[in-house]
Amino acid sequence: MTLPWDIHRIRQDFPVLHQEVHGQPLVYLDNAATTLKPQVVIDTVSHFCATDYANVRRGVHTLSARATTRFEAVRSQVQRFINAANPQEIIFVRGVTEGVNLVAHGLGQVHFAPGDEIILTELEHHANIVPWFQLAQRLHLTLRVLPIRESGELALEQLETLWSPRTKLFALTHVSNALGTINPLATLLAAAKARGVPTLVDGAQAIAHLPVDVQALGCDFYLFSGHKLYAPSGIGVLYARQDWLQRLPPYQTGGEMVLRAGFDAVKFAPPPAKFEAGTPNIEGVIGLGAALDYLQRLGLAAIAAHENQLLAYATAQLATLDGLRIIGTAQHKSAILSFLLDKIHAHDAGTILDKRGVAVRVGHHCAMPVMQHFCVAATTRASFAFYNTCNEVDRLVAALAEVIDLFAYPGDTNGRSTLAV
Ligand code: ALA
Repeated sequence: MTLPWDIHRIRQDFPVLHQEVHGQPLVYLDNAATTLKPQVVIDTVSHFCATDYANVRRGVHTLSARATTRFEAVRSQVQRFINAANPQEIIFVRGVTEGVNLVAHGLGQVHFAPGDEIILTELEHHANIVPWFQLAQRLHLTLRVLPIRESGELALEQLETLWSPRTKLFALTHVSNALGTINPLATLLAAAKARGVPTLVDGAQAIAHLPVDVQALGCDFYLFSGHKLYAPSGIGVLYARQDWLQRLPPYQTGGEMVLRAGFDAVKFAPPPAKFEAGTPNIEGVIGLGAALDYLQRLGLAAIAAHENQLLAYATAQLATLDGLRIIGTAQHKSAILSFLLDKIHAHDAGTILDKRGVAVRVGHHCAMPVMQHFCVAATTRASFAFYNTCNEVDRLVAALAEVIDLFAYPGDTNGRSTLAV
């Protein structure tokens, strides 16, 4: 396989990769849960804390001004990265979960009335289900769900049956965290727009892999988490169109989100401050800026090319294993492979893989409706990043072959299984 870049040099950027786990070189295949941090992100955060750190948007002193300039520069950087119309449309949040809660809280106050409907998809992560479920309970809304097919693709033909005059939101994921399905977002958003229905997109699994242009997409809200794009955890972005930010009430209230506050009256600051109460995750924002720089230097097109080659190679290699079934075979997929092993629980497989130095996620991946669709409690999931290699895929496959062998001959003491766990 030809690599579009020097993978060995890129791997040098990620110090955490260079360690052994249980005496084996680490193979990190849990990138859909969180991505590792390049040295430049670690150094930028550390250098910022050592030289420019102060509270932002509050001080007249030089250090605060410097910190504020750097903080706000990242807002503009994010704006350019997703092509928002202006930096005020970028709200810093903890991550997608907080962002969805912020929007659900706001829409619950100004947008929905009892009897209204929200369309979700069966592919959603719990972060894009539970806030809407809670709101639906509180306001007597109805959740309507676009199902998936056996391939893990949305049953698009059924969308037509879900719209009604009461549909007030379509909230959907860009890429499935459990299966890797890339949804045909432009088509889905256009269908909502044609009906005047606002849209919210969970971009957590897309942002580090696919180009995102929120104006071209025409979505009302787009969310992503920094830790899925090589930035620190605890920082994320809510993009919301300016008119929504004017209309929505604040989610949290307190310091720096007001123009005036007293015991008899409060006047909120304009966005984005209106939605950023309290001292923000300043160093997280600085780290996010460094991660975006790093990603842009590599280039999303080159990243996608490498990850697609890994996905194709891993899919073909896993198919050689007896008793392994890949769940999620969409035509358009991100580099995520969820699979089942015949008669072997995912947690057993994951535990044994760990003994071989291979880190994967096992479980329901916070996407229980997807698991229910396939009538399983859990899958084993390998999720790839641009620093992964074909050699690591081979390590995964070899370890899985050992797992299969061990469970095929569990009581064999005559040397048939050599696995020491
Ligand atoms: N949402 C993350 C995952 O898919 C945590 O693993």
